[in-house]
This record gives sequence, structure tokens and C-alpha cells, in this order.
Amino acid sequence: MPITINGRAVDPPADPRVSLLDFCREQLGLTGSKKGCNQGACGACTMLVDGERILSCLSLAVQYDGRQVTTIEGLAANDEQGGGLHPLQRGFIEHDGFQCGYCTPGQICSGVALVAELKRGLPSHVTADLTGGVTPSREEIQERMSGNLCRCGAYNGIVEAISEYVAAELPDRQEVAA
Ligand code: FES
Ligand code: FES
Repeated sequence: MPITINGRAVDPPADPRVSLLDFCREQLGLTGSKKGCNQGACGACTMLVDGERILSCLSLAVQYDGRQVTTIEGLAANDEQGGGLHPLQRGFIEHDGFQCGYCTPGQICSGVALVAELKRGLPSHVTADLTGGVTPSREEIQERMSGNLCRCGAYNGIVEAISEYVAAELPDRQEVAA
């Protein structure tokens, strides 16, 4: 069964040992997702599968036949406002959420999935109240982004960009300071 990657159906690799990251980068030319550690420690390779974030360096491409994979290239292409960039991509530019940019595709994919998790009410390690929904505080965002490292230390801009995006997507939750 094909894998759908950024809306395009592709056959899984013949070699079942190929990671989803290598498949996208080396066989499909989708080089937006980055290989940092290649062992699940940095988040640079983060992609979305059916809307949930995964570490593509630790995932075999053949695991995802029949699934919907989105990389950073797909986020831009699916921009609902037609501006060529996803709103969170624009936010990273406006808030200086990067320096070298190596971690940025993974950060943005994680940020998009983070909002989906908040909408579903999924708690994190720092969620105090497990019965009343999740308040998307700065601490909550920092905790949920803790798997995405930035060696340039652009964390303030990253959190600001994601906070603004969370505020736009969850306007009824005023606790976020954009
Ligand atoms: Fe996948 Fe670092 S390259 S977590
Ligand atoms: Fe350089 Fe994050 S912007 S590693």
C-alpha cells in the first residue's frame, strides 16, 4: 500500500530497513526535515503522521504504508490562507525563532502537533489539573517543546512564535502571553 507524503502517494522503499527520514531526504528529495543526531535525541527530524508528531529518524518508512505523512514542505503547500507559508512558519520569521535554521523544520512540525494535542486536551508532565482541560501556559509550551533542541539557543523566539500560534488557534484560552 502506498504512503501518502504531502498529499502524494508513493510506494514504500524496497529495503525495509530505510528510515522515514532517509526515505524522504534521499529518495524523494524532501530535504526540509533534518538529520541531527539520528538517534531520537534532538527533534530535528520531526514529521507529522496523521497529524501526530513522530521522530522520523527512529521510524522505518515501511511502517507508514496507508498513512498520511506531512513534512515541513507539506505544511507550506497546505497553507489555507494561500500565502505560501503556514501561519507558524510566518510566526517563526516574525519572532526571530531561528538562527541557522537547522532545527527549524522540526520545531515547526512539533509546534503544529502541539496545538493539535492541546485541542484534544492531552496533558503533559507539567499539567497541574488533569480534570479541567489544559491551560496552554508558557511553561506548558516549553515542556511540550523540550524534545526539540536548538543549538543556536533561539528558544525565546521559538516559544513566542508558538505562543502566538496557540493563542490564534485557541482564542478561548487567554492564559498564553503571545
Ligand atoms: Fe531524529 Fe535527532 S535526527 S531525533
Ligand atoms: Fe540553529 Fe536552532 S536555529 S539549531
